[in-house]
Amino acid sequence: MKQDWYQSAVGYEIYPRSFCDSNGDGIGDIKGIISKLAYLKDLGIDFIWITPMYASPNVDNGYDISDYYAINPEYGTLEDVKDLIQQAHEMGIKVLFDLVVNHTSDQHPWFRDAKSSKTSPYRDFYHWKKGKDNRPPNDWIGFSGLSTWTYDALTDEYYFHLFDQKQPDLNWKNPKLRQAIYDMIRFWLELGIDGFRIDAISHIQKADWDVTLQDSKGDGAYQPFMNVSGIEAYLSDMKAIYEEYDALTVGEASGVSSQEAPKWTGRNGYMTMLFEWEHNYRFETGKGDVVKFIEILDRWQVDMQEQGWLGLYLENHDLPRIIDTFGDGSDSSAKAFAVAYFCLRGTPFIYQGQEIGMTNGDFKTLEEFNEPKMKRRYESYRQLLADKEAFERAKAWSKDNARTPMQWDASCYAGFSTVKPWLRVNSQYREKNIALAQKDEQSVFYLYKNLINLRHHSQAIAVGNYQRILVGHEAVFVYQRQSQTESCLILVNLTAEKVSISMPKVIRDKNWRLVLSSEKEGLELKKSLSLPAYFYAVYQI
Ligand code: GLC
Ligand code: CA
Repeated sequence: MKQDWYQSAVGYEIYPRSFCDSNGDGIGDIKGIISKLAYLKDLGIDFIWITPMYASPNVDNGYDISDYYAINPEYGTLEDVKDLIQQAHEMGIKVLFDLVVNHTSDQHPWFRDAKSSKTSPYRDFYHWKKGKDNRPPNDWIGFSGLSTWTYDALTDEYYFHLFDQKQPDLNWKNPKLRQAIYDMIRFWLELGIDGFRIDAISHIQKADWDVTLQDSKGDGAYQPFMNVSGIEAYLSDMKAIYEEYDALTVGEASGVSSQEAPKWTGRNGYMTMLFEWEHNYRFETGKGDVVKFIEILDRWQVDMQEQGWLGLYLENHDLPRIIDTFGDGSDSSAKAFAVAYFCLRGTPFIYQGQEIGMTNGDFKTLEEFNEPKMKRRYESYRQLLADKEAFERAKAWSKDNARTPMQWDASCYAGFSTVKPWLRVNSQYREKNIALAQKDEQSVFYLYKNLINLRHHSQAIAVGNYQRILVGHEAVFVYQRQSQTESCLILVNLTAEKVSISMPKVIRDKNWRLVLSSEKEGLELKKSLSLPAYFYAVYQI
């Protein structure tokens, strides 16, 4: 069976602002990342994806780019980037950057020029349209929950944005814009990076402006800019460039269904793999829906069985921590979820801090948050709930939960910085940090090390077939991975309760060998089994 290197590889996401501060200004930076490469090597990962470090006014911490060719001085210089690439490569670690091409910052020179007059040569780099009777050109609603249009008095037109109004969308229908983007992609690949995580890529094509919303609630509202036809041509252009450099690409592709994803990814697709968004489904309280989590992961596995490839993840810089959303706050829950997703078909990613079971930030006041949306979210909950509950509810959804500084050790500011960091350090750092975890073989950290090792060495887990085994409990995830030479059985109880299941005969009859488990001896695979809370085991033949 021919295997591509990324099929047995593990990625690691770095949010540079919160990873490691090398020069004592409270903000993580490139030299900080370089200083931790040895740590990453020891953990065992194969490549890193670093979220945007380009010049940016930081309305969205780097996802609003004002110069695609410049590094934000807070993080360092282009020389530092070259150094990072070189040192990472010497250790056998590949480096992915973030590619943000759905929008720029409103401070990007293209937009500033575009805004200055209707005849600007950059006007058509963005979407501009006249309003109707003093109202926006159409009724579309963006990801902020507000209109996708902002009025500009100077030229008496509206401009289009899916995210914040300070992040105007680029007009991909314009060949000049496309060329400018393609040149920029080449610049970074020429510099020596190994690929990209591609931001919001399923949204770059928009439907005709006269499309009105069929359904203004939920995902229905997003249809006019989710995987809209015409996008294929742009994706193919980009793919041709990635191929020249043999680049690894991971698309953030919400709105691309599990049926469409096989065509989007893999050797013949537009990108190497994609991140689906569906399995993150949470209730209004912010708590994850474990049953849906399993169902959705299972559907994606089945639909992508024959063709295509998935990026697997539990956490990222946009999501509150898994241990508090889907888990019950315990390390046991962090471990059970780790095993559940890590052995699926796809390439697993670990988000910084996930490897020690970092929990949500312990923010005490609204002022301690950085995320611009937090205040508005709080105010809307305040209309329904008492003060304290409104705060807790708003907090439960905040992206800042996962952006608190990395907890390296028990020293002041968790070893992240020598001064007060840009975002409050989680006070749990004294009990939960990398240095401590490395001394404790029972830690979440060692489980991840073992899982990474298993990924690297098991053909079944890298490229084997996937099959879910039904055991009579909807929150127990059991699946088999099978290659020509090997089988693995993964068994996880994703609840905080003891549960009874029944193991089918076809599974019981095999001569499994225990690889890892939450119980020292694992469990004998009998017909009826009682699983302890957050039990996990991986067996192999
Ligand atoms: C992606 C990023 C998110 C950002 C958005 C707009 O979803 O992960 O952090 O705000 O795109 O660029
Ligand atoms: Ca710094």
